[in-house]
Amino acid sequence: MGSTCVVGLQWGDEAKGKIVDLLCDQHDAVVRYQGGANAGHTVVADGVTYKLSLLPTGILRPGIECVIGNGVVIHPPALLKEVETLKKQGVEIGGRLHVSDRAHVILPYHLAEERLTEESASAADHLGTTRRGIGPCYRDKVGRVHGVRVGDLYHPAQFREHLSRIIDYKNRLLAAMLPEFDPLDAKQVADEYLEYADVLRPLVCDTTTWMHHSLAQGKRLLFEGAQGSLLDVDHGSYPYVTSSNSSAAGIAAGSGVPTRHIDRWIGIVKAYTTRVGGGPFPTEQDNDVGERIRRIGREYGTVTGRPRRCGWFDAVAVRYSSRVSGSTEIALMLLDVLSGLDEIKVAVAYENKDGKRIPELPGHVADLAECRPVYETLPGWSEDLTKARSWSDLPKAAHDYVRFLSKQIGVPISIVSVGPERLQTITKVG
Ligand code: IMP
Repeated sequence: MGSTCVVGLQWGDEAKGKIVDLLCDQHDAVVRYQGGANAGHTVVADGVTYKLSLLPTGILRPGIECVIGNGVVIHPPALLKEVETLKKQGVEIGGRLHVSDRAHVILPYHLAEERLTEESASAADHLGTTRRGIGPCYRDKVGRVHGVRVGDLYHPAQFREHLSRIIDYKNRLLAAMLPEFDPLDAKQVADEYLEYADVLRPLVCDTTTWMHHSLAQGKRLLFEGAQGSLLDVDHGSYPYVTSSNSSAAGIAAGSGVPTRHIDRWIGIVKAYTTRVGGGPFPTEQDNDVGERIRRIGREYGTVTGRPRRCGWFDAVAVRYSSRVSGSTEIALMLLDVLSGLDEIKVAVAYENKDGKRIPELPGHVADLAECRPVYETLPGWSEDLTKARSWSDLPKAAHDYVRFLSKQIGVPISIVSVGPERLQTITKVG
């Protein structure tokens, strides 16, 4: 048996954390390969709610090793705070956390730069980001001149010099663009980050080599995607995306582990669709149905608390993202939230403004914005599903809905989740 990936197939928040948590028993290490503290995973275990952002979900399971890979962007104070919060909740971290020396570091000017673009006068430039400095940090990574990696923090003299040049540049830029900007003091920022580096030192290593040694010993890795495939910077609804490859396409680059080691490709979807931030969302229900889904599904952002936009399941979008992420099986989450609806709709195609049927997800966001969904309507069910523990506990209408989605996506549904607890999971789907 090889390694596994768990990747969201919608616009994030598909409850991936629960599935990663359930699969931990069959793996030795959980690996984050992209994103940063923009992600939010909520895991409920034994009645306790844990909120994870940068840390892999495996951190909640004793004995599971956790890797923050090279493709992740790290804000050290956010990482240390998360570790402290978990320790206070009784989670033993010990030597289980490994942080890549190649991961890039989020610095205070990244947060200021993001404020600048997000608050810019032009609404068209507003993406509705999580404001965690993710985009500006990735921009510096690919721009190379201003990139700072975790490993740089362990070369203090060069780091101080490099940072002083960067901060000189950023201060001039930010002061010109943001009148109220308080210039940063390079020495103060360097002192602060070198202190973080001291605390993080035992965790930092070449995680790529660490993972290859683990694989050579027959260990199994679980790659945990953050956000969802439709927010992938290359394959998602650009520019309303995050700045990393949040589909399975990011695994090899963001971890240094070739995907030939993976033999289980699990795509995670909700039984409906949500989206936070800007961008087109063809099946959005800005009405009582959307409100009901938001209320019952508690659809508010884990990181920012923003109400999520809610709508019907979009099979056109998921057909596309499941191909991009190579899903060979699907975990269908939050099915219980749809109980009580007389009928449930699923977008099976789109129609453009000229009435032409569009069977596939358009590549340009302007074309997507013009698409109207073509729905198929299925009967709903009134039964509460949260007590269901096996496929036969579900009503016929729920069976029909699950089978319909599977057929539409073209991938078998292997897991159905009917609540946040580990027990509320059906693993034998008929
Ligand atoms: P950023 O990742 O903060 O740059 O935000 C870019 C877009 O991705 C925004 O629409 C965010 O709302 C969205 N986004 C980022 N992280 C998540 C997540 O974990 N769940 C859902 N949406 C996210």
